[in-house]
Amino acid sequence: MNINGLVKTPQEIAKMRAVGRLAAALLEWLIPQVKAGMTTDDINTLVHNYTVNVQHATPAPLNYHGFPKSVCTSVNNVVCHGIPGKYVLRDGDIVNIDVTTKKDGFHGDTSVMVCIGTVTPQAQRLVDVAYEALLRGIRAVHGGAFTGDIGYAIQSYVEAQGFSVVRDYCGHGIGRGFHEEPQILHYGTPGSGMRLVPGMTFTIEPMINVGNYHTRVLDDNWTVETVDGSLSAQWEHTVLVTEDGCEVLTRRTGEKIALN
Ligand code: MF3
Ligand code: CO
Ligand code: CO
Repeated sequence: MNINGLVKTPQEIAKMRAVGRLAAALLEWLIPQVKAGMTTDDINTLVHNYTVNVQHATPAPLNYHGFPKSVCTSVNNVVCHGIPGKYVLRDGDIVNIDVTTKKDGFHGDTSVMVCIGTVTPQAQRLVDVAYEALLRGIRAVHGGAFTGDIGYAIQSYVEAQGFSVVRDYCGHGIGRGFHEEPQILHYGTPGSGMRLVPGMTFTIEPMINVGNYHTRVLDDNWTVETVDGSLSAQWEHTVLVTEDGCEVLTRRTGEKIALN
């Protein structure tokens, strides 16, 4: 695909805005309900039913390359792609909830961290640094910037905070496809990679670890963990590139994102 194939038309952008809002609204509704004592499967049930029955949309993870559930739930040392199941959330856990909504042929992809009860100061700092890393990545986006500018903004900040950036998974173009070009690495050097053009839509979704950045996939072929067992955190938004910055298509109501 050439660079023009990555630029959405105004009609496509309207659909990306609509589905991005649905994904954000799903999380707004879900987050206050996530509590100690519930299973990750309970989160899956809430996400599935709200998406299908209230939003009249599709949870894109379900059956995506064989993924068995409607949402990814990644707890503590799980980096991403955790499969909802019998695990009971408990005080001190940190959990990433990654939803992807499909409607009218287009996708919106966004994730948050939820802290269960009281978490350790280190876990809280990891969660906060991961969110700030996402914001710094978002602020690096504008027409004419490079994908490497996003990676640099994230990596330089995260490593200065003493954490590591996961290399094995990245952000991605999104539209009719769940995962499209370009790849958005969360590490890199300014001016490298692909030039950003207004009308492109992609995700930024840095995963950061307390320990080193190495990951491994469990025998279920999905769950990604840190090799060293350390905690991992991730936040994700879907953005639209504009001339002078970007529009955060999955911004939640009340979420303050100061753009340039
Ligand atoms: N939502 C994930 C992402 O941010 C992808 C999940 S794929 C699944 O790209 F199959 F695990 F759902
Ligand atoms: Co994504
Ligand atoms: Co996602």
